[in-house]
Amino acid sequence: MMPHLVKTGPSTQLLVDGKPFLILGGELGNSAASSTAYMQPMWPKLRAMRLNTVIAPVYWELMEPQEGKFDFTLVDDLLRDARKNQMKLVLLWFGTWKNSMSCYAPAWVKTDTKRFLRVEDDKGVMQEILTPFEPRNLEADRKAFVQLMQHLKATDNQQHTVITVQVENEIGMLPTARTYDAQANAAFKQQVPAPLLTYMQREKKNLKPEFAAVWQRQGAKTKGTWEEVFGQSLATDELFMAWHFATYTNAVAAAGKAVYPLPMYVNAALNRPGVAPGKYPSAGPLPHVMDVWLAGAPSIDILAPDFYNPDFKHWCDLYTRGDNPLFIPEHRFEDGVDAKAFFAFGNYNCLSFSPFAIEGSDTLKGVPICKAYDLIQQVTPLITKYQPLGQVRGFLLQKDSAARTFTLGDYRFTAKHEYTLGWSLGAKNATWNPGGGLIIAVAPNEFYVVGTGLVLTAEPNAKGKRAGYLSVDEGHFEGDKWVAGRRLNGDEDHQGRHVRVPGKEYHIQHVKLYTY
Ligand code: DGJ
Repeated sequence: MMPHLVKTGPSTQLLVDGKPFLILGGELGNSAASSTAYMQPMWPKLRAMRLNTVIAPVYWELMEPQEGKFDFTLVDDLLRDARKNQMKLVLLWFGTWKNSMSCYAPAWVKTDTKRFLRVEDDKGVMQEILTPFEPRNLEADRKAFVQLMQHLKATDNQQHTVITVQVENEIGMLPTARTYDAQANAAFKQQVPAPLLTYMQREKKNLKPEFAAVWQRQGAKTKGTWEEVFGQSLATDELFMAWHFATYTNAVAAAGKAVYPLPMYVNAALNRPGVAPGKYPSAGPLPHVMDVWLAGAPSIDILAPDFYNPDFKHWCDLYTRGDNPLFIPEHRFEDGVDAKAFFAFGNYNCLSFSPFAIEGSDTLKGVPICKAYDLIQQVTPLITKYQPLGQVRGFLLQKDSAARTFTLGDYRFTAKHEYTLGWSLGAKNATWNPGGGLIIAVAPNEFYVVGTGLVLTAEPNAKGKRAGYLSVDEGHFEGDKWVAGRRLNGDEDHQGRHVRVPGKEYHIQHVKLYTY
């Protein structure tokens, strides 16, 4: 069975070999997969880090060095080495766009600026960015992508090593909010395309508020040019570009899926709030233009954020509006990724977590995420069983958000950073290493708590009662079977007052509560 997405209750799940799969991933640095020899010593390291998936680029320039002549050696090497190491792959199509630029276009594309037309800024200066308005750009990219998908169908249709494909990479308009090439200027004067207007009217009540506000400011018109419908502003330039980026990318994805229908997503470089369009990579699948991407790119299954900004929870909340599942292809490889992985899989319908430039890490840096992945792997069957039922929660505990309260089963829980404990010496530290975890209710009184650097207290939903612990056991899963280790009591659960996982430790604890 092909890897595919299914809607299970309110959640979307990625089914791989027929089972819900959580991508415990790592994305390779951009150039790593261009050399099979360079990658050789990396594979054992990636396996030791407990990754189940490697997220790796496919480079248009190396795959089609001459027009119409394809070389799949690097793709085949990735398939072989991933299989040898029992890992899955997410492939990144570095095609027309990579971080706004077109640096991965083959030389025969780059050097033919008459045929493969470029973006121009407002002074008419040509950029090394292919314009989405030139049909020959789309044609060349689409042909190459179809070849890639055909090759995957021919070589991976049985094993399904490749489970998802990212189309392009961090599309975003720079250095102006829109391109001023001749075809773009003509399109800008046209009517807003009917499919976008139809979507806006159909989804009127569900539009993201940022987008709805721009539309409503102009009187929520149902037809007109871009500036008539959205007003004369950089925001309109961005919406216009988002539509054309989305439809271009959709055409590439749709042609690829017609050959071999893997799940496909696009990723965004998050913008810094308060910065004007054109000053950040604009018009990619960003929260404020999500609606345009949803309308323009129905063959794209997921809009995904890349995390190099603060405010993890804020951005996760924005990306999980509507039906969009959370898929994190990139997170800066920094302290706290372990806690964020627990939080993301516990709190959201998250399909993927993945630190960036994973192969470059030294052994020590990789330890926390490896420990987190080990535990998440063990509880994946529980997460994927209970999440669609609403029985999983996650929490991220940082200095500025050190406590979180939520209801689960028969109890109201408060998760706190361990430094909030009165006697904790660490509280004086300038920075608090993030703590985080997830909790799964397998029965109204029975829970698995998974995480690091956390303290959890419970009170019953029932009024006038108090909660007590019947048992707190640490342990691990062997397949479906829970294997209990120490019974945690006394100092370890503060004499029956709380559940605790100290910082730098990683536990699964099986907790049974009662009321009195
Ligand atoms: C986000 C991009 O998607 C990656 O390919 C990489 O360039 C990182 N930024 C930064 O190194």
